[in-house]
Amino acid sequence: MSFPQNRLRRLRKNETIRKMVEETKLSVSDFVYPMFVKPGKDIKEPIASMSGLYHYSPDTIIEPAKQIHSLGIPAVLLFGQARKKDEPGSDAYAQDGAVQQAIRNIKENVPELLVITDVCLCAYTDSGHCGVVRDGKIDNDESCRTLSKVALSHAQAGADIVAPSDMMDGRVKYIRQTLEENGFEETAIMSYSAKYASAYYGPFRDVADSAPAFGDRKSYQMNPANAKEAIREIQLDIEEGADIVMVKPALAYLDVILRARQRFDVPVAAYNVSGEYMMINTAADAGVFQREKIIMETTLAIKRAGADIIISYFADEIAGILNNA
Ligand code: PBG
Ligand code: ZN
Repeated sequence: MSFPQNRLRRLRKNETIRKMVEETKLSVSDFVYPMFVKPGKDIKEPIASMSGLYHYSPDTIIEPAKQIHSLGIPAVLLFGQARKKDEPGSDAYAQDGAVQQAIRNIKENVPELLVITDVCLCAYTDSGHCGVVRDGKIDNDESCRTLSKVALSHAQAGADIVAPSDMMDGRVKYIRQTLEENGFEETAIMSYSAKYASAYYGPFRDVADSAPAFGDRKSYQMNPANAKEAIREIQLDIEEGADIVMVKPALAYLDVILRARQRFDVPVAAYNVSGEYMMINTAADAGVFQREKIIMETTLAIKRAGADIIISYFADEIAGILNNA
């Protein structure tokens, strides 16, 4: 059947009918809000490379965490910084590290807010790499052992979900085993499964003080040219015990999100990264777009591609918009 039996404009006639047949809806409960923890006390410092975001110390993070919870956002994703960097990145698994203290403070004061933690070494190693460097090379299995200690220290502090972002082979298996052996069988793993070596992380590197001192991350993060390989990465992470898989970045990789969604029946998260955030932020501030509209349309695209969970620096702003709609 074709025209005039079929007129698709019938279902676009007015706002009510458009809403009724809408296929994709953003909900506040889809979102995760990233937050940055810095060692020290009484700190609230604007992050120069990412306008609108702040560094908080473990004591000052409680108030904004409460606000995120009161907006209805289910989870925060915590990133930390080292008090002192060293070769193995040992401050990453210190019981009294900044992230570990922030986890305890949030769980004590806002227990219903889910705490997800970024598990990586790049902000803690003096090489600035996501793994442990031995003889100028990233030692995969040694890195996995260290990353498991990091994940365990987060679980012990009360993290609900640990999120390894290093891209070492087998790290989900090591982390899952370590959590099991230590009685943390209820701690979930959200794996950065398909994490690409992307220029879109540019603004973030200042944030976490984690730029590599030599070389780049291409020996562990994925080649942006590859989508089939993303399926292999995701498959392995699921087999190793990941509960949630992630594609990162989101916007330049919507096809990968779609493939992941079609192929696997586990929750798929997408990380709308720092560069994607700043691209929109800067353009909106310059008057190129209408801010609210561009944020909502772009974020909707990530969900339409198949993401169940959206990690976004716009999460608080989006929640405000959705709550007032
Ligand atoms: C570090 C890490 C990065 C991001 C999250 N964890 C940077 C990188 O891998 O270089 C990127 C986050 C963003 O850009 O918003 N493992
Ligand atoms: Zn890293």
